[in-house]
Amino acid sequence: MSNKETTSKTIIVAFLLCIVCSIVVSASVVLLKPIQEKNKALNLKTNILAAAGLLVEGASADEIETLFSSIKPFLVDLDTGEYADPSVVGKELALDYDQRKAAKDPALSAVIAGGEDIASIKRRVKYAKVYLVEAKGKIETIILPVSGYGLWSTLHGFLALEGDANTVVGLGFYEHAETPGLGGEVDNPRWKAFWPGKKVYNLEQGDEPAIKLVKGSVDKSKPDAMYSVDGLSGATLTSRGISNLVQYWTGEQGFKKYLNRLREGV
Ligand SMILES: Cc1cc2nc3c(=O)[nH]c(=O)nc-3n(C[C@H](O)[C@H](O)[C@H](O)COP(=O)(O)O)c2cc1C
Repeated sequence: MSNKETTSKTIIVAFLLCIVCSIVVSASVVLLKPIQEKNKALNLKTNILAAAGLLVEGASADEIETLFSSIKPFLVDLDTGEYADPSVVGKELALDYDQRKAAKDPALSAVIAGGEDIASIKRRVKYAKVYLVEAKGKIETIILPVSGYGLWSTLHGFLALEGDANTVVGLGFYEHAETPGLGGEVDNPRWKAFWPGKKVYNLEQGDEPAIKLVKGSVDKSKPDAMYSVDGLSGATLTSRGISNLVQYWTGEQGFKKYLNRLREGV
């Protein structure tokens, strides 16, 4: 070792290098945060549009913003099924309400009793956000946020219904951590194509959700075919989770009262 290469000098150089690297990493985290937030918001809007069947293939960020501007957000009180003013959640606009944050806030949500928590989400918000597509004063599409546990993760997405508050337009998830190729097939357009046209409720028999995922393929000759969707192959547990979350959010604890009100025109 030459005179100049002392242990203390090596430590100082290593220390300075660590400082420089940590500054670079911290700066990129801070500088990239707004871009990440913007992309996250855009991803959410893209998924809402996709569930509603309004997404145009290859649309640019600006085009997505324009398409999204035709969708109106509202707040719904899940206990009454009535619309609520955004001021009840301390917001000026329903768009600014963060339902996932509210689900962790004891002032805006409550623990779900064990037996009723079929979607395994632990807490239920008092107010939920819905998005409506309207044309000539009539509701064309109702987009509902849905979430529930699969096998490895909570899936977050949107269920879109036609103006009859019963016929499915689409179901899509913007966040989950199920296994690619197994539970992750929830993102496969071929599986998503099984949903449009299905009915959530068998209204002749009441207003409990009838829709469910079945193991294998739906037998089209059976009377419940219109309430049944093909399960994901090799992913029975994710499929069960999806059945449960769709039933939870269209059931008593979810949007059932709201959807009943829409059907009754009140
Ligand atoms: C590495 C690994 C990942 C898996 N990922 C999933 C998954 O994302 N969703 C799921 O339902 N099952 C998944 N499974 C399979 C489950 O453990 C279980 O076997 C399966 O859900 C049973 O479905 P089947 O009756 O259709 O085979 C995975 C298994 C392994 C070994």
